[in-house]
Amino acid sequence: MDRVLIFDTTLRDGEQSPGISLDVGEKLEIAEQLSRLGVDVIEAGFPIASDGDFEAVEAIAKSVRGPVIAGLSRTGFKDVDRAWEAIRHAERNRIHVFIATSEIHMRKKLRMTPDQVKAEAGAGVARARSYTDDVEFSPEDGFRSDPDFMCEVCQVAVDNGAATLNIPDTVGFGLPEDYGKLIAYVFDTVTGDYVVSTHCHDDLGLAVANSLAGVTNGARQVECAINGLGERAGNAALEEVVMAIKTRSDYFAGVDTGIRTEELARTSRMVSRLTGYPVQFNKAIVGRNAFAHEAGIHQHGVLEDRETYEIIDAGLVGQEAAQIVLGKHSGRHAFSDSLDKLGLHLQGDALNQAFVRFKELADRKVQINEADLEAIVAAELGLGIVHKFAMVSLDLEGGTQRTPHAYVTLTDGAEKIEADGEGNGMIDAAIAAIAAATGVTGELTEFHVSSVTRGGDALGDVVLQLDANGVRAGGRGVATDVVEASARAYLAAVNKVVRLRERPEVRERAVGP
Ligand code: KIV
Ligand code: ZN
Repeated sequence: MDRVLIFDTTLRDGEQSPGISLDVGEKLEIAEQLSRLGVDVIEAGFPIASDGDFEAVEAIAKSVRGPVIAGLSRTGFKDVDRAWEAIRHAERNRIHVFIATSEIHMRKKLRMTPDQVKAEAGAGVARARSYTDDVEFSPEDGFRSDPDFMCEVCQVAVDNGAATLNIPDTVGFGLPEDYGKLIAYVFDTVTGDYVVSTHCHDDLGLAVANSLAGVTNGARQVECAINGLGERAGNAALEEVVMAIKTRSDYFAGVDTGIRTEELARTSRMVSRLTGYPVQFNKAIVGRNAFAHEAGIHQHGVLEDRETYEIIDAGLVGQEAAQIVLGKHSGRHAFSDSLDKLGLHLQGDALNQAFVRFKELADRKVQINEADLEAIVAAELGLGIVHKFAMVSLDLEGGTQRTPHAYVTLTDGAEKIEADGEGNGMIDAAIAAIAAATGVTGELTEFHVSSVTRGGDALGDVVLQLDANGVRAGGRGVATDVVEASARAYLAAVNKVVRLRERPEVRERAVGP
């Protein structure tokens, strides 16, 4: 089999999605799961962008084993040196150097002549190569560049030691046929020994199709992100690229990826939970309805033979999360065992707290399945992260006749804090009470409610974004009651705001591609 390398950029391009702000612990958690999933390369971040980005890339390079750990860099030596500093501890590392080659980017953004860009590319790649043998080069906005000039710059990069040429369709303008032709043109024009990679944005909804056209034309690396996260409309969705290649092995004859597809659904849920970006219900491969059959005729067909209406076995992508794993009689041992199986390793106080929360929920919800468990543990407790405020109780009064009123008791570890608040509805009142108790106020810029699984006792899952005077943070809360879930989500966002305020540089992006 000819391997198509999967280069995951969830933590770099994906993190550039508006409103996503992952801290180091969350990035590490995702990187560990990407390693479990079997990606070949993790682009862990853009180290020069901020101290927070640097710290996260360095932490991942130090502890995540398996994939190559890549850091993004512009061509300037300061960028390259910083990228190397962050990734140098990795078992295998890569510096990903980029500079724009399209006329509009060179003239309006870089204010450089084509010759200057060529010289920059050569110097940046050579500098990166002085640190590591594994250097990737990207001519940013490659698809809209003059192909001859783009190939000249790529040739300079290869001559200076780049082993991978990544051809970005930065603004998602390409159509599959054109993009495929561009990949073929690179092979015909640039001499040397290199792997060609695709990097397609989804502005026309064609990122996956374009990436696959690249593969058909010889690309052997695809840059993609879990759930298709990324700038604007996002990048090619990793799960879709991988499953298209696998499912249509008749078409992609002789090529495959090294992805452990059974981990796809879990990875998608984790990324959704930590980024606060919900997965569309009908999203291919990982959406909750991707294997649901509604029409009677379909249900009948599937019962007779799954293949009447399914081209993929749900189990193959880890979509069978409905099996019951625990109930209210389960003990701490079974609980911790189940978490371990999900790759959630909790110990000490974190395990005790998670177990208490699990028991509370199991009292109200008979069956706790895998998806519930993940949501409870990670959304409510935030693995390994110390939260300033925790919820002790929430009581509500009022309704359609009387103004809704909420009473909340929180603890900040040292003492209990009580406060109350009124609002237009129960959720509004609960949020007002938490704002009063914590002193953190702001504007809710996003608010989504859904259920973790199906059924009347499904856990309500609330994802929101809070803008507290310019400090933006996402929060997620899970509970059997939607008001409580909303309050927990709000508190999670408040805790994150407090953490970010303590480390303001974490979110200050100095630069961005
Ligand atoms: O879209 C793009 O061009 C990028 C590059 C930095 C590879 O993300
Ligand atoms: Zn991109």
